[in-house]
Amino acid sequence: MASAQIPQLKDEVRSFWNTEPCGSRYLEGTDDFDAFEAHARSRYTLEPHIRRFAEFSSARGLRVLEIGVGMGADYLEWLKAGANATGVDLSAISIARAKRRCVLAGYYSDLHVADAESLPFAANTFDVVYSYGVMHHSPNPAQCLREAQRVLKPGGEARIMLYHHPSLTGLMLWLRYGVWQGKSLRQAVLDHLESPGTKTYTKAEVRMLMRGFEGVEIQQVFSPGDLLLNAPSARFQSAAYRLVWKLYPRTLVRKFGRRWGLFLLIRGRKA
Ligand SMILES: C[S@@+](CC[C@H](N)C(=O)[O-])C[C@H]1O[C@@H](n2cnc3c(N)ncnc32)[C@H](O)[C@@H]1O
Repeated sequence: MASAQIPQLKDEVRSFWNTEPCGSRYLEGTDDFDAFEAHARSRYTLEPHIRRFAEFSSARGLRVLEIGVGMGADYLEWLKAGANATGVDLSAISIARAKRRCVLAGYYSDLHVADAESLPFAANTFDVVYSYGVMHHSPNPAQCLREAQRVLKPGGEARIMLYHHPSLTGLMLWLRYGVWQGKSLRQAVLDHLESPGTKTYTKAEVRMLMRGFEGVEIQQVFSPGDLLLNAPSARFQSAAYRLVWKLYPRTLVRKFGRRWGLFLLIRGRKA
C-alpha cells in the first residue's frame, strides 16, 4: 500500500468501528448491565476457544495489555481474573462502551484511545499482550506486532488472533461479491469483511510476521461466520439468505472444512 493511503485507511477503520463498535448489534440498542452480560454469554458460547486461548484465569497479578478491546468483553474478564489490565482501542466510541461495561460490573478500568501501530507504553512493560481480531484491520499489522513485541517484558507472551487465508467466510464473501466482480478471495475479504482493508494470512505468512518472537504456535479454529452460527447481519436478511442459513451443512463443514477456519490463534514469546 502507498504510504500516502495509510492515514486515510486508518481514518476509515476508526470511523467504521466508531459507527458500529464490535458486537454492538447484539446489544439491540441498550447498553445496561444485562445487555452486556447477554453479549458476553453469546460471545463465549459462539467462540468457546476464547477462554482456552486467552487463559484469563492464569493472569492474577500479571500486567496485561489488551490491544483493540472493542466493547470490552475480554477486557472485563482480565479484570475479573485479578490481572493488572490496560486496554486500548483506536475507536473512542468502543472505549466509552468498554468503560461503561466495567463501571456497570463494578470494576475500575485503565482504558485508552490509542493506535496499535504506535503504543503509548514503555518497552518491557507487560507480561501478556493479548489482541483478538484486531491487527488485520490496521493498515500495517507488521508494525502492530513489532509494537506488541516492544512493550512485552522479556519472556512475556503475545496471544494474537488474526484472520486466516483461505477460509470459509472468505469463500462465502467471494461467492456473494467477488465472483461477479472478478475479485480474488483475498480481495473479497479486503473489501467486504468488516472494516475496509481487512487482511488475511496463511500460516506461513504468520510465521514470517511473528519472526521477532520465540516458540510460535498457531492453532486454526472456525469462526461463528464459517459455520453460519451467528445471526445474519443487515446485509443478509432476504428469504434466500435465511434459507442458506437454514440448510447450511454444519456437521459436514465441521468434519471436512477444518483447514478453512477463519481464526488463527497465535502465541509467541519475547526472547
Ligand atoms: C473486530 S473488532 C474486535 C474487538 C475485540 N477484540 C473483540 O474481540 O470483540 C476490531 C477492533 O480493532 C480496533 N482497531 C482496529 N485498528 C486498530 C488500531 N490500529 N489500534 C487499535 N485498535 C484498532 C477497532 O477499533 C475495533 O474495536
